Amino acid sequence: MDFVKNSWWLTFGAFFSLGSFMFAALLSDSVPVQPIRYNHAIHISNGLGCEDCHVGARRNEKATLPGLDTCMQCHSEAVGQSPEEAKVRSFAGTSQPIPWVRIMQLPEHVYFSHRRHVALGGMKCAECHGPMETRTEPPTKAFRPMKMDNCIECHRERKASNDCNDCHR
Ligand code: HEC
Ligand code: HEC
Ligand code: HEC
Ligand code: HEC
Ligand code: HEC
Repeated sequence: MDFVKNSWWLTFGAFFSLGSFMFAALLSDSVPVQPIRYNHAIHISNGLGCEDCHVGARRNEKATLPGLDTCMQCHSEAVGQSPEEAKVRSFAGTSQPIPWVRIMQLPEHVYFSHRRHVALGGMKCAECHGPMETRTEPPTKAFRPMKMDNCIECHRERKASNDCNDCHR
């Protein structure tokens, strides 16, 4: 009798944990959707450079995302016929920032500086972010995963420091 009861709980437990595992997997696999289908290729072919929008990418720790005021320099009037472009102006009407979803985002405990890699290390954006100038759709995942192993692997190749305290401050 006891055996029957126990095995019922075991089966129930197994299904329950399988269920929550699958639920977690679903959550972590969900594809980020940006509020506007921003097109990198179109802007770069119109002569903009990465740092016109990501102003900190060479000088500061954070590259930063552009604010609505940057977009409105060109989009206060329609420059094309894309309904995606019209969305830019509808955000301006609400005075809310465009709620971009961040793809590249390290946890708080990790220290990473763009200036260190781009200005001092002389690295190109594409080494970590891939060919953004060819993207006609927002990226949905990191081109190069920024897991600890990936940082350490490149640091080993380039003879940069792999001291725990340099990345964890
Ligand atoms: C006219 C402004 C503009 C220019 C120029 C521009 N970007 Fe962006 N970038 C954006 C916007 C807006 C987003 C957020 C939407 C998206 O992910 O497509 C973004 C997102 C990104 C992201 C993803 C960041 C994250 O955490 O989600 C990377 C990486 C990036 N840009 C790199 C570049 C590089 C490299 C260049 C130059 C080759 C460049 N960008 C030029 C506006 C710009
Ligand atoms: C220096 C001027 C300039 C700036 C700054 C600028 N854009 Fe544009 N944008 C353009 C031009 C030019 C086009 C192409 C219009 C066309 O040919 O249809 C365009 C097209 C677009 C389109 C339509 C793309 C498509 O797929 O058809 C969207 C959406 C857009 N821009 C969003 C933004 C956002 C968001 C920002 C701010 C992060 C921004 N733009 C900043 C000049 C600019
Ligand atoms: C593709 C290669 C590459 C990748 C990927 C990379 N780095 Fe680096 N990193 C370098 C190089 C090269 C330097 C040395 C730059 C210099 O000062 O000349 C460096 C330097 C650093 C420094 C300064 C170390 C010191 O001596 O104080 C820190 C901190 C750092 N990286 C953190 C990171 C973190 C965190 C990641 C992952 C999210 C990462 N890096 C990914 C190449 C890389
Ligand atoms: C060594 C790898 C590396 C290089 C080179 C690099 N990035 Fe990044 N980038 C990262 C990492 C890691 C993050 C996430 C940083 C964080 O969460 O603090 C990031 C984040 C970003 C973001 C999101 C906004 C932000 O400030 O976090 C943008 C935009 C971006 N990078 C643009 C650029 C541009 C433009 C260049 C070239 C001028 C560049 N990156 C060069 C690794 C790199
Ligand atoms: C070159 C940069 C770099 C170095 C060196 C580094 N880490 Fe990390 N570490 C990271 C990044 C980036 C993450 C966050 C992404 C991830 O979890 O992989 C991280 C995450 C972690 C975490 C959290 C893991 C989790 O599951 O949340 C621990 C603990 C950790 N590191 C310990 C260490 C120790 C101990 C050392 C030295 C032996 C070290 N790290 C050296 C970049 C680095």
